[in-house]
Amino acid sequence: MSSDLSIGLHDLSAATTEYVLTHETLAGRTGADVAKYHRGLGQLAMSVPAADEDVVTMAATAARPVLARHGTDRIRTIVLATETGIDQAKAAGIYVHSLLGMPSATRVVELKQACYAGTAALQFAVGLVHRDPERQVLVIATDTSKYDLGSPGESTQGAAAVAMLVGADPALLRVESPSGLFTADVMDFWRPNYRATALVDGQESISAYLQAVEGAWKDYTEQGGRPLDDFHAFCYHQPFTRMAHKAHRHLVQYCGQDADDDGILRAIGRTTSYNAVIGNSYTASMYLGLAALLDSAGDLTGRTIGFLSYGSGSVAEFFGGQVVPGYRSHLRTDLHRAAIRRRQEIDYARYEELHRRSFPVDGSDLAVPRETTGPYRLAGISGHKRLYEPR
Ligand code: CAA
Repeated sequence: MSSDLSIGLHDLSAATTEYVLTHETLAGRTGADVAKYHRGLGQLAMSVPAADEDVVTMAATAARPVLARHGTDRIRTIVLATETGIDQAKAAGIYVHSLLGMPSATRVVELKQACYAGTAALQFAVGLVHRDPERQVLVIATDTSKYDLGSPGESTQGAAAVAMLVGADPALLRVESPSGLFTADVMDFWRPNYRATALVDGQESISAYLQAVEGAWKDYTEQGGRPLDDFHAFCYHQPFTRMAHKAHRHLVQYCGQDADDDGILRAIGRTTSYNAVIGNSYTASMYLGLAALLDSAGDLTGRTIGFLSYGSGSVAEFFGGQVVPGYRSHLRTDLHRAAIRRRQEIDYARYEELHRRSFPVDGSDLAVPRETTGPYRLAGISGHKRLYEPR
């Protein structure tokens, strides 16, 4: 940035679902060797939303501790990123704004570009803070990843939200400029309006991701970005955690360096622990990777972290972030671990029942059963309107 203003993440809080399905249980049903899930994909379990949970309840749950700590006085914008849209017109963030009792003098908007939109939201927030450094922006990335039962994508499902407070003089991470950008019109993964589950060309999606890594890094370098060796660790979008390994190997080789397994593990190993047990959370996934890194690594003060955000379709962005002195006293490690630990394990039959649940498409009303033990729930649909309530 041309100015010396330091802008970035002032707070970060993650939330996930009520239920969890292990990949052992899934393998028991699909007949796959569980090692394919554990080692081949790097996934151990997936978060499954209760009937009365969705992207709004997860987003509000993630954001609640942020507002409890920082208040709402400086927040005039909420940017919510999701590809699990609940309405074609109304922004999901307005329900979140309402559940959290935020002031009316707020702008709320929803962003979409597959899993990349969380990063678009972050960068737009950085721009807004530049315009008025007294203000903060609440960025929320929230998604439920859902594929057809029995499809190859099923084992990469998951759900989570990450709320980030973006402001000047951030307590956690300074977001650097430049960014490396890449867009290509590909059909690797998409979800037409009439479908609840995503369509995906699995192998094509992996190639498209790797192409995007290359393209974003090339642009980052051309824009005057840092050399590869400057980065202490890398947070990648993690549709499944082995994808981060593939992506980093690809980047290291593209840079003409030796991609040995130990080096790759050192660079990304600490970013995968939450994603391995939560699954793909689309827009939230890369930021869950950051949470896992900050929560589990030793002192990262002054270290530079590389971020590669990928959204199918496709858009990618590479940027750097520098960890700020004193960040450790602002982490929410206990909250994150508790959110993962508190989930109730379900069997395949229960998971299948939840997976097959759908909302009426003919406008009829629906009362949603009380299931979640989280702070917010979707109570039902009445007169075409979704009704949310504190639990
Ligand atoms: N023990 C250990 N490893 C095993 C194994 C076993 N018994 N059996 C298979 N494996 C390994 C395979 O060798 C493979 O690893 P490599 O790719 O490193 O060779 C891995 O397990 C997966 O095996 P397959 O490729 O045979 O798996 P699959 O055909 O069932 O599909 C997938 C994998 C394409 C990722 C599928 O899960 C899928 O479609 N997922 C959804 C799409 C996706 O996540 N794409 C990622 C890029 S797109 C993106 O990032 C955006 C997004 O969020 C969706």
